[in-house]
Amino acid sequence: MSMLTTEKQSKNQKQIVNANESIFEALKNKTADLAVVGLGYVGLPVALEFARHFSVLGFDINQQRVEMMNNSQDPSDELESSAFENKDIRFTWEAEKLAEAKFFVVAVPTPIDKQNQPDLRILKSATTSVAKALKKGDYVVFESTVYPGCTEEVCVPILEQLSGLQYNVDFKVGYSPERINPGDKTNTIDKIIKIVSGSDDEALENVANVYDTIITAGIHRAPSLKVAEAAKIVENTQRDVNIALMNELSMIFEKMGVNTYEVLEAAGTKWNFLNFYPGLVGGHCIGVDPYYLINKAIRIGHNPILISAGRSVNDGMPAKIANKIINELKTRGQKVSNARILVMGATFKENVTDIRNSKAADIVLELQKSCNDVTVVDSWADAGEMKDHYGIEMSEAATGIYDAIVVAVSHETYVNMDADQFVNMMTEDGFVMDVKGILKNKIEAKDYFSL
Ligand SMILES: NC(=O)c1ccc[n+]([C@@H]2O[C@H](COP(=O)([O-])OP(=O)(O)OC[C@H]3O[C@@H](n4cnc5c(N)ncnc54)[C@H](O)[C@@H]3O)[C@@H](O)[C@H]2O)c1
Repeated sequence: MSMLTTEKQSKNQKQIVNANESIFEALKNKTADLAVVGLGYVGLPVALEFARHFSVLGFDINQQRVEMMNNSQDPSDELESSAFENKDIRFTWEAEKLAEAKFFVVAVPTPIDKQNQPDLRILKSATTSVAKALKKGDYVVFESTVYPGCTEEVCVPILEQLSGLQYNVDFKVGYSPERINPGDKTNTIDKIIKIVSGSDDEALENVANVYDTIITAGIHRAPSLKVAEAAKIVENTQRDVNIALMNELSMIFEKMGVNTYEVLEAAGTKWNFLNFYPGLVGGHCIGVDPYYLINKAIRIGHNPILISAGRSVNDGMPAKIANKIINELKTRGQKVSNARILVMGATFKENVTDIRNSKAADIVLELQKSCNDVTVVDSWADAGEMKDHYGIEMSEAATGIYDAIVVAVSHETYVNMDADQFVNMMTEDGFVMDVKGILKNKIEAKDYFSL
């Protein structure tokens, strides 16, 4: 008998789970497999963490990404190849293989469309793949960020209809929001308290036990799927609204000629002052998730004016920053179209390669409406992706001297640069726009602006 046949048989045998064994025990004893659906910034680290303890199938529709993972390479550039070592995991792009698993974790993207409405097409498609593989006794846990109620209103009906199985009788569901923070090497997945929820008490117990195996920081059991869904969206909405408040304050203080950071430093001496700063809100979490809540709130008859205002303030920041730069050039008597501008940073936040919903890119696009010579550098961002996504041509390095330098992203390399390095790249009249305030009190020889 070939190795392959033996392997296949042992996989099939795994489907006959001992009736007295809980799904958690079956995973622990490796008599059942866990599948992670969607292996991006969230799914891959989750899958690899589970693969320390369980037999894991990593499924992603993107064959090229799967091939990279088969070669111990993280397509999102977050994990070292050593992260793949000594893990019980196999990767596939073939949806039929999902039938080998009994516990599914779905971690696919949940973006918004051009009208800022939830775009659930990917979530529905991934749920469809799981539904086709669903068997009696299976569990499906969703990690994708959604509005409260989405799992039971959108995903569960797909699972029931396509599998012919009954929710909470034949299969159970959980929701466990992901709080991973890409680029953060300190707060790694195992060190972040995990919120878990289940479709009934038994489901909650099993889902909690499964996650407790990989999370050292501990588990928080939410009383319902809806509470767990809401918790995640509230975390990000709270950040969004608070940053919007800081952005609005910075606009007021600019008109007063008062430095916002000095105000925040002074106000921050009170014990209950919250530590937020002005800045850009991009990416696919904080700048997106509040729209999911806004959408749901409106559909159930509430107009969330505060949350919507926060979104509009934050979405307006790139244009405000670009206008400030253009006005400064004009004040200096410069012909704006001929000015040389250097934008440092193109990713959506510091020390990551992710350029999706990058507000730094939006600043560039705004500047390009008036200036013909905008150089964009960022060693983290992929030049090809920048061209495809935004039509922005990146440069390998800054060349010559610039009338304005915009530090748009607080990459560690920029934080560590000396004042002289900036000054040497500037014309006599040149100035710095430091969007994240990382160069405060550093640039003294030139005009310096922050938010
Ligand atoms: N990235 C973060 O910082 C972060 C943090 C917390 C929560 N989240 C949430 O986690 C979810 C996943 O986000 P992400 O950043 O990991 O996304 P991502 O874009 O990095 O990865 C998604 C992966 O899913 C794959 N995929 C797409 N459609 C699929 C399908 N139908 N079946 C299987 N695979 C499919 C893609 O090929 C890709 O590899 C989102 O809901 C997001 O809001 C993200």
